[in-house]
Amino acid sequence: DWNSGNVIAEQVERIRAQVGTGRVLSALSGGVDSAVSTALVHEAVGDQLVAVFVDHGLLRQGEREQVENDYVASTGVRLVTVDARQQFLDALAGVSDPEQKRKIIGREFIRSFEKVQAELVAEAAADGEPIRFLVQGTLYPDVVESGGGAGTANIKSHHNVGGLPEDLQFELVEPLRTLFKDEVRAIGRELGLPEEIVGRQPFPGPGLGIRIVGEVTADRLEILREADAIARAELTKAGLDNEIWQCPVVLLADVRSVGVQGDGRTYGHPIVLRPVSSEDAMTADWTRLPYDVLARISNRITNEVREVNRVVLDVTSKPPGTIEWE
Ligand code: XMP
Repeated sequence: DWNSGNVIAEQVERIRAQVGTGRVLSALSGGVDSAVSTALVHEAVGDQLVAVFVDHGLLRQGEREQVENDYVASTGVRLVTVDARQQFLDALAGVSDPEQKRKIIGREFIRSFEKVQAELVAEAAADGEPIRFLVQGTLYPDVVESGGGAGTANIKSHHNVGGLPEDLQFELVEPLRTLFKDEVRAIGRELGLPEEIVGRQPFPGPGLGIRIVGEVTADRLEILREADAIARAELTKAGLDNEIWQCPVVLLADVRSVGVQGDGRTYGHPIVLRPVSSEDAMTADWTRLPYDVLARISNRITNEVREVNRVVLDVTSKPPGTIEWE
């Protein structure tokens, strides 16, 4: 009979047996799996663990603070944040092609992680206790999908920026390997993690970088972050978080349309709302959101976000449309 307290106790035992006195490295993405696997390992080995969070500048409003403040406060995990915002902007400059963006974001993520990893490894070695383990938030469905070899590192590397290089330098610690997503959330809640992280809807590894159709710039990211924050706040306020699987908010940065505001003509960008209902993201339907909620989101975004003069609704199922626009 499944009980999150038992699973935690059992995993803590296993992790201690595997790791002994060794040091452990972990990467937090802001998502559920890395947050819970890291918290479990911390529960087991305390300060033998150090967690790394790469701020690539493609995060949503408040996400870095959730990790740096709320997550750290609730777990006591030792956290190193890497500010790689400029590095990612430089690498993405002039690039509009979705696949190219994904590749660049994946590559820069590994680069910035490896840089801090090298520093932490050197520091630990000087301390006399080398880092020998790496935490991975692999879930049971990932194991099945990859054919299930023991210690299989992330298979969806190009599809998952949270994924790390398969680094033979480290032995993997994978405390979620037998669990499903809802079980992982239950364990996270039992461990007292912030609800914003544990209950978070799916968010792609490449983040807002693949929700700007066109080149990614600091200015455009700021516009999208504001629009996204408004849509999320209104959906939560309307109590719709459990009805929708996720709601990408997309900035059509290369499109302009004419509008009117006050006495003047505007020439701004459209924001697309893409609310979807789904069981597993393989197929999806567009969510029939209440008109009054759509109206509030639209009014607020066009009033509060500069450069945006139009909000449109994506009414395409998957297939043929993917959930994300890129
Ligand atoms: P698509 O757009 O393929 O998305 O219908 C299906 C689901 O996957 C998420 N997604 C990603 N998740 N890294 C991720 O970790 C990625 O590169 C990525 N691309 C899409 C998307 O948000 C949806 O839930």
